[in-house]
Amino acid sequence: MTLLERAAVRADRGAVCTDRAGARDMATATAAATTVTAASVSNASQPHVVLGGRYRLGAQLGGGSEAYVNEAWDLATARAVAVKIFRSTDSADNAPFQRELDIHGRLRHKNIVKVLDSGETGDAGDHHQESRDYVVMELVGGKDLRGIMQHNPASPEQTAAWMTDIARALAHIHRRGIVHNDIKPGNILVDFDSDPHGPGIAKLADFGIALNGRHAAPNSSSGTPHYLSPEEVCGGASTTASDIYSLGLVALECLTGTKAFPGTPLESMVARTLGEPRLPGTVRRRWSMVLHAMTDPRPAGRPSASQAVGMLRRLSW
Ligand SMILES: Nc1ncnc2c1ncn2[C@@H]1O[C@H](COP(=O)(O)OP(=O)(O)O)[C@@H](O)[C@H]1O
Ligand SMILES: [Mg+2]
Repeated sequence: MTLLERAAVRADRGAVCTDRAGARDMATATAAATTVTAASVSNASQPHVVLGGRYRLGAQLGGGSEAYVNEAWDLATARAVAVKIFRSTDSADNAPFQRELDIHGRLRHKNIVKVLDSGETGDAGDHHQESRDYVVMELVGGKDLRGIMQHNPASPEQTAAWMTDIARALAHIHRRGIVHNDIKPGNILVDFDSDPHGPGIAKLADFGIALNGRHAAPNSSSGTPHYLSPEEVCGGASTTASDIYSLGLVALECLTGTKAFPGTPLESMVARTLGEPRLPGTVRRRWSMVLHAMTDPRPAGRPSASQAVGMLRRLSW
């Protein structure tokens, strides 16, 4: 796949981000459940839409080209959840959904968003109606890193804590032969509700293009252009070391508030094949050693996820 194709295909994953204000009032909503059609799901902020007779949809939290995510109220457990609804109406050929189910759905880790349930919208008996797949997840009470960084860079302490959390999640999945393949700020959620006096708990989300050997590599490009590793830009395979490189770029962006390789997707990708990211003088020496290691152009020169956990943990002491 050419550089341009890689840039074009992944550029819009996670493009929509909306305000979730007001959605917590869903508990008091009493509107009746309705049969869900594809049309009503596309307009999913309607409070009367109930998926599977159980999940009453609320405000949209985000989404991109393949799926959108809404808050929902679980009528069975009386708890708020998040529902990711996939845009494809072809269940048999919905690779992102299958990956979320088969790969993400089996993972249990404190730093990975938990999948709770899955289903299909629409009336199964009505063959004229389009239906869509969805997965139900724990609702992370906070923001994704992209939203957090829109306002300010994170402090070195916050960055160390969040990156340690995500490196732990990566160590967990890498041990199981899984490559996340899309490490970027929009796929890292920080749960402030569960850690009100600390930095918040970072959780990894979105396994829509994850690799585990059983699922073929996605026929679109792997990863989002600004965070792709140099080996992926050059057409090589995405490996566990590629996840580490991408996390290094996210860490650098957290600290500085700017993308390590800015510009158009193509400019950004070409730049990283020509050299390592430039670290501004404001990045402390101990941090720069870790970032240099994680973004080593040679995959073999990068730490494993468990080694990265050790390096990042030492930064917060
Ligand atoms: N479990 C969740 N709790 C809270 N917000 C979520 C949750 N899952 C996703 N989101 C929000 O929705 C956005 C898109 O979700 P994601 O799974 O990354 O979908 P996409 O495949 O469209 O990128 C995330 O960037 C985040 O802001
Ligand atoms: Mg995403």
